[in-house]
Amino acid sequence: MHARIAGTGFYVPPRVVTNAELTQLFDTSHEWIVERTGIHTRHWIDFETPTGPADLAYEATQMALAQAGLAATDLDCIVFATLSPEAWFPGAGVFLQAKLGVPHIPAFDVRMQCSGFLYALQMAEHFVKLGTYRHVLVVGAEVQSTTLDFSPQGRTVGVIFGDGAGVAIVGPSDRPGILNTHLHADGRYAKELWVPEPTSTRRPKVTLEGERPGEGLFAIMNGREVFRHAVTRMSEVITHALGKQGWAADAVDLFVLHQANIRIVQAVAEGLGLPLDRFFNNIDRYGNTTAASIPICLAEAERAGRLAEGHKVVLASFGSGFGWGAATLVW
Ligand code: UT7
Repeated sequence: MHARIAGTGFYVPPRVVTNAELTQLFDTSHEWIVERTGIHTRHWIDFETPTGPADLAYEATQMALAQAGLAATDLDCIVFATLSPEAWFPGAGVFLQAKLGVPHIPAFDVRMQCSGFLYALQMAEHFVKLGTYRHVLVVGAEVQSTTLDFSPQGRTVGVIFGDGAGVAIVGPSDRPGILNTHLHADGRYAKELWVPEPTSTRRPKVTLEGERPGEGLFAIMNGREVFRHAVTRMSEVITHALGKQGWAADAVDLFVLHQANIRIVQAVAEGLGLPLDRFFNNIDRYGNTTAASIPICLAEAERAGRLAEGHKVVLASFGSGFGWGAATLVW
């Protein structure tokens, strides 16, 4: 039994936040953000209307179901990758399941941040190849704008992240689709990019004393260290995946890398000796949407005619954990 992506979908909240708007929050500039990250705009939820990743994922799922010619009741399992669930527990997966109106099917979260979609994809691939489930909804969705520090200390992280959702429906196929997935993690670097609170290690779960109560609820990142590892690890895992597949880098029709910083994609492309146009990028419009970035790219690339049947595709990601991975597919 082969496993193949039968439908893709994406959704971003309507509110567009420009770099110019961020200069009202932070000591930053459009030029700095574009030069250091490649980001021009990102989408954030409207802070007056409570919105969670399951709400965004619901819209993305409608697009994917329509493309696959399936109804929500055809789904057999939901694997939801997110670092920004609506609640401490339960996970975002069950909120989405309830919205979709498909009670009783398994629905669970994967917490591997920027690599979450690839971790979820590997599970879906194996579930379908083994015959455990027929149609698995793989979700990457984030609402990160509510986790950003809008004080002066927050400017490095605050300009990068965006909200959004992307999904892929993995189903059975009589021809190869998802060929291989390769996953890695290194917990020694867990605190290089993390949100330390709420924490179950002590009472109260959130630090409320000191100069900045609740400071631990914001993302903290050692940007340079993360950048350095991202380039090295993604280059390594892509080279390994290509070797396993017996593919020359040049034979790949499209690379889709996690959209963290356009300079990371440029460095990986350079290392592989490939032009940047072999990589699908949309970071200029959406910023870094963490688990959602790869599936949003896939949905957009397909609709832009950059993915056609028979194309060789490589996906790769790196992020908090550290966690990273790659996947090889024939579209
Ligand atoms: O998605 C998960 C994985 N995440 C990533 O892969 C992100 C990896 N890291 C990065 O993309 C980059 O490190 C950043 C975009 C986060 C930062 O870019 P950088 O080129 O590494 O900047 P930096 O942190 O080394 O800071 C350079 C300068 C500093 O000023 P000084 O010390 O040289 O005077 C910062 O204070 O830029 C300053 N700076 C800013 N200036 C204007 C930092 N943030 C900003 C800002 N606007 N928003």
